[in-house]
Amino acid sequence: MKNIVLVGFMGTGKSRVGRILAQRLGYVFVDMDAAIEEREGRAISRIFAENGEPYFRSLERSLVQELAGKGNQVIATGGGIVLNPDNIRDFERTGLVVCLMASPEVILSRVQHETHRPLLATGDKLGRIQELLAKRQALYDAISKRVATDELSPETVADRILEMRDTL
Ligand code: S3P
Repeated sequence: MKNIVLVGFMGTGKSRVGRILAQRLGYVFVDMDAAIEEREGRAISRIFAENGEPYFRSLERSLVQELAGKGNQVIATGGGIVLNPDNIRDFERTGLVVCLMASPEVILSRVQHETHRPLLATGDKLGRIQELLAKRQALYDAISKRVATDELSPETVADRILEMRDTL
């Protein structure tokens, strides 16, 4: 097994769980948002504001293609990675793709004091989360390996993912 790729809505714990998994496995940890920010030399919110969402999605797409050519990585994707099915198809060829899930209320509790997500920069965060989740639910549900994280610590989510990996 080469890569573990964590997919899921914002605030489902992809980065926290990804770090734990990478440490346990001795794999490289790649946070796609952080990698894009580093390469662009500016924050995701500035990329959205200055060049628009389609430009950000094109950066994401190129990074997926690059990462899919390498192994021994735990990759935390951005929540919108599922919007282009080619991204999931490419990652599925390279290893285990797992979707982390959480209820809108738990997502809100995890993101409400953060300000770096342009898609949640609104007064009614819960409404925005519900709206985006509704639009994307079918895309997240299409990923066969999923973990519901509401009641679990990041360490336990990591345990579940390692169990899935063992049964492959
Ligand atoms: C996005 C999620 C963010 C980031 C960008 C867009 C999305 O990543 O890629 O703000 O479309 O859901 P996180 O899921 O890590 O917050």
